[in-house]
Amino acid sequence: MKHETVCGLDIGTTKTCAVVAVDGPNGLEIVGVGEAPSLGMRKGVVVDLEQTIKSIEAATERAERMAGVHVSDVYVGITGDHIRSTNNRAVVATTSEDREVSAADVRRVIDASKIINLPADRQIIHALPRYFTVDGQEGVEDPVGMAGGRLEVDTHIITGGTTFITNVLKCVHRAGLEAAGLVFEPLASSHATLYSEEKQVGVVLLDIGGGTTDIAVYSLGSAIYTATIPVGGNILTNDISLGLKTSLAEAEEVKKQFGAGVAEDGEQSFTVRGLDGRTTKEVTTQQLRAIVVPRVLETLRMAKAKIIENVPRDLVLGEVVITGGGASLPGLTPIAEEVFGLPTRVGVPSAIGGLTDAVMQPQYATAIGLVLFGAAGETEAGEGGRRGGPSGAALFARIKHWFADLWN
Ligand SMILES: Nc1ncnc2c1ncn2[C@@H]1O[C@H](COP(=O)(O)OP(=O)(O)OP(=O)(O)O)[C@@H](O)[C@H]1O
Ligand SMILES: [Mg+2]
Repeated sequence: MKHETVCGLDIGTTKTCAVVAVDGPNGLEIVGVGEAPSLGMRKGVVVDLEQTIKSIEAATERAERMAGVHVSDVYVGITGDHIRSTNNRAVVATTSEDREVSAADVRRVIDASKIINLPADRQIIHALPRYFTVDGQEGVEDPVGMAGGRLEVDTHIITGGTTFITNVLKCVHRAGLEAAGLVFEPLASSHATLYSEEKQVGVVLLDIGGGTTDIAVYSLGSAIYTATIPVGGNILTNDISLGLKTSLAEAEEVKKQFGAGVAEDGEQSFTVRGLDGRTTKEVTTQQLRAIVVPRVLETLRMAKAKIIENVPRDLVLGEVVITGGGASLPGLTPIAEEVFGLPTRVGVPSAIGGLTDAVMQPQYATAIGLVLFGAAGETEAGEGGRRGGPSGAALFARIKHWFADLWN
């Protein structure tokens, strides 16, 4: 029996990561992971074609070697400041004689919802159905087979700048690969880290990468708002390097070790090398926090402001899930709980077999989510098929006290 291979390619600002999975008898299983530094990307977009091609080649070759398979088609992540999202609605009359909604009607109404005022230099990446309305009955998840003459859909539409998308595709092609689909990165990360109950109740996903912070807000099972902010974890490293007058490499180490956290036994001090590489000085975790916390607050508040501005005032949100490499910052979770007034957890990839400890890390959420997206055949048409799951009573109990705090 031939098992299908699916590959996700996350061309991030700091690293390019390829994940190969096989859809076998026990479901989807990761068989190869390859990573290479990204030297040609800035804030989620390509700034150097040659370097980006090299990173893609290196990452996919490593993943292929580990998996022992050849990869030709990849699901590619897209992000950057050029991404915009909007919600739209469309109506069609059903066409069958017995006034029953067919799969073709569903496709037609989703296509109709893609008719938006789109500048010539932009293109649609996703039209994700949020819910259908059949003859006035709202909130239908799967209308196929239902009786009705009038089919409406509410979709979440995500668009991107054609130039930025074309540059990513150019790199993929020149690395000898075919793009099987394009996926806005936080949707991929959501797939790898969020439970369907969370999406049902209402959840904010933040993917804090090196150069971008991507946002996806889910309610009633589907994406209602998505956006990206051109600030990620790298700016923190910069701040630390400037503030402590040390190299970027040393600042990165300090960030990963202490971040915004306080050691369990209270304040601590550590030594950093000066920019000359020879002199050293003592720094306290308190001094470090004075550099890190304001920047973290600023980034999280920017995300919150965007969400508040763009989601309905009465939307119920139960939780914040943070993923991406930046989610590993020591001390981040309590700061996010404070800013959002919602319980916050770090999202690590799950929902797939073959996960080793090495890949169960937040920075692999996008690449693994791309595999899940690809395996489910979800590209432009969206995630209609994967919605649902029962509402988790335990989850509800855990988070119900926090409802609506976002707005205070
Ligand atoms: N333990 C850690 N503590 C704090 N920050 C960390 C830790 N590990 C990684 N990071 C930071 O995470 C960032 C990289 O995250 P990630 O690999 O998700 O980014 P990316 O996908 O390459 O970039 P982007 O999504 O912005 O295009 C870097 O800024 C890195 O310093
Ligand atoms: Mg990323």
